[in-house]
Amino acid sequence: MEENTERTVNIAIDGPAGAGKSTIAKAIARRKGYIYVDTGAMFRAMAIYLLRKGTDEDDEEAIGRDCADADITISYRPVAGSHTPEQRVLLCGEDVTDGLRTEQVGNMASKCSVVPAVRDKLKELQRSLARKENVVMDGRDIGTVILPDAQVKIYLTASVGVRAKRRYDELIARGEEADLDVIAQQIQERDRRDMTRPVAPLTQAEDAILVDTSDMNVEQVTERILSIIKNTVI
Ligand code: DC
Repeated sequence: MEENTERTVNIAIDGPAGAGKSTIAKAIARRKGYIYVDTGAMFRAMAIYLLRKGTDEDDEEAIGRDCADADITISYRPVAGSHTPEQRVLLCGEDVTDGLRTEQVGNMASKCSVVPAVRDKLKELQRSLARKENVVMDGRDIGTVILPDAQVKIYLTASVGVRAKRRYDELIARGEEADLDVIAQQIQERDRRDMTRPVAPLTQAEDAILVDTSDMNVEQVTERILSIIKNTVI
């Protein structure tokens, strides 16, 4: 990818797990013709690396040491019938995208994301993508730390009950077993960890616009954010 000389458009979408960030960010990217950058996937790829290496998930020092050799890169591949290419995550050259979304990987991703060495390593990757392309980037600290100059910052959230129900429906639709109360507890625990960590905690940037999706469907949220972008960027 050639570096753009003009400033690229950067749209940051942050928020807790299950708020609908990736669905919405993808829809916005598609409508605007921008690239969608899923930063959670990078932490998940790091988690796969650490799980394979056998690193203790509760040993932050070991995680800080072991993450150094993880070679994580992003590539985009065209999708038939769509203008928006799809993000693939490569770990040491291997495409690990299809294995990113398990509970085990999600838990390790959450644990390793509190370690400064992990965040520093992924920060440059995230920033370089945003310098080269117009992006919709979702994560936890995009508006606050990674892209503080993003033209549009959205903080997307929904109640714990609504987020748990969405996750529950997703698992059931996939034919997996699920317990709504357990999922709600896990979401609460992940929120607590993401919001209270000392490094880059999940928090709404001062200049971010809050969008609570509890009572909105995907189309409504997408239209709301597109109108925010229209009023702000172009
Ligand atoms: O959004 P996700 O569930 O794929 O993210 C996986 C974990 O990575 C989650 O616990 C939070 C963490 N994460 C982060 O700390 N910073 C980001 N920009 C993205 C994800």
